[in-house]
Amino acid sequence: MSDFSRTSALMERGTDFLGSKYAILCGAMSWVSERGLVSAISNAGGFGVIACGAMTPDLLDTEIAATKALTDKPFGVNLITMHPQLFDLIEVCSKHEVTHVVLAGGIPPKGSVEAIKAFGAKVIVFAPTLALAKKLLRSGGDALVIEGMEAGGHIGPVSTSVLAQEFLPELAEDHLVFVAGGIGRGQAIAGYLEMGAVGVQLGTRFACAQESIAHENFKKAFFRANARDAITSVQVDPRLPVIPVRALKNKGTEEFTAKQIEVAGRLDSGEIEMGEAQLQIEHFWAGALRRAVIDGDVESGSIMAGQSVGMLKEEEPVADIMQKLMTQSEEALSRR
Ligand SMILES: Cc1cc2nc3c(=O)[nH]c(=O)nc-3n(C[C@H](O)[C@H](O)[C@H](O)COP(=O)(O)O)c2cc1C
Repeated sequence: MSDFSRTSALMERGTDFLGSKYAILCGAMSWVSERGLVSAISNAGGFGVIACGAMTPDLLDTEIAATKALTDKPFGVNLITMHPQLFDLIEVCSKHEVTHVVLAGGIPPKGSVEAIKAFGAKVIVFAPTLALAKKLLRSGGDALVIEGMEAGGHIGPVSTSVLAQEFLPELAEDHLVFVAGGIGRGQAIAGYLEMGAVGVQLGTRFACAQESIAHENFKKAFFRANARDAITSVQVDPRLPVIPVRALKNKGTEEFTAKQIEVAGRLDSGEIEMGEAQLQIEHFWAGALRRAVIDGDVESGSIMAGQSVGMLKEEEPVADIMQKLMTQSEEALSRR
């Protein structure tokens, strides 16, 4: 028996599925989840996931090969469903015999789940509603991640605690469900495992680990921030759609609000058409996450972070974070 016998027992279906020691996924984070962090997570017993994001098939090819060179433990690849070359990316995953593909960013297009399963990989899906979750699990999804609005990055409108109460009693017995969003400590992991989850997915907690390539400025912004600084993008005018994203407030988030007011005014005065107005809003954040993560521009870049950011105070090795999470979960379960 491991030191974490209670936690491990509740995670067993999750670890069997992932092939990892702990059923703790580090959710894919664009620009952050590259070979270094992904291999560190998997080597520490968790399950790393490469963020393909907007990568070309060639770049993904290189990244998977480089990750494999750094770990012999299982890891996954996260593909965004609206990527224009989704099927070419799936082909790259097939070439490398990737074992788990996470499909994020919307309903998987026709044939994508089948194309992944055809080379023997497992498919992990996201679903914002119970009805869609059931549909995706019926049509080939092998496991589900439910992600609440406390999370960093693109989010839905419902909190993790509510999603967990709504989804787990219905799905947990027959399906593999991982819970994500707002998890900063192992006590919360213990709670979701007891509710029937087979594991959890964390992003924010790992984003600034020692092995993360995120710029020093990005990490400092995380360590300075409180939970309330991780805000959702503000929509000023119902005519101008804004994708909900949780990130640390900065000059960029203020400028985004000002930009929307300006564009709405120009729309009112007939200076620009609706299509042009919407395009200007859509393009505002282009390249902004890269600017923050890689270039360290924490003024105008997008510092995507979840509400658990307030619990982060210093850079720690991934292995230490993993051990802390497991220890906290185990202590919580032992006290029951
Ligand atoms: C900086 C950052 C970038 C992210 N990028 C992606 C992404 O490219 N694809 C994705 O599916 N999720 C992305 N996420 C969400 C994470 O994979 C994960 O589900 C989430 O961070 C979990 O919630 P937490 O931040 O509260 O731990 C991102 C999160 C952060 C903080």
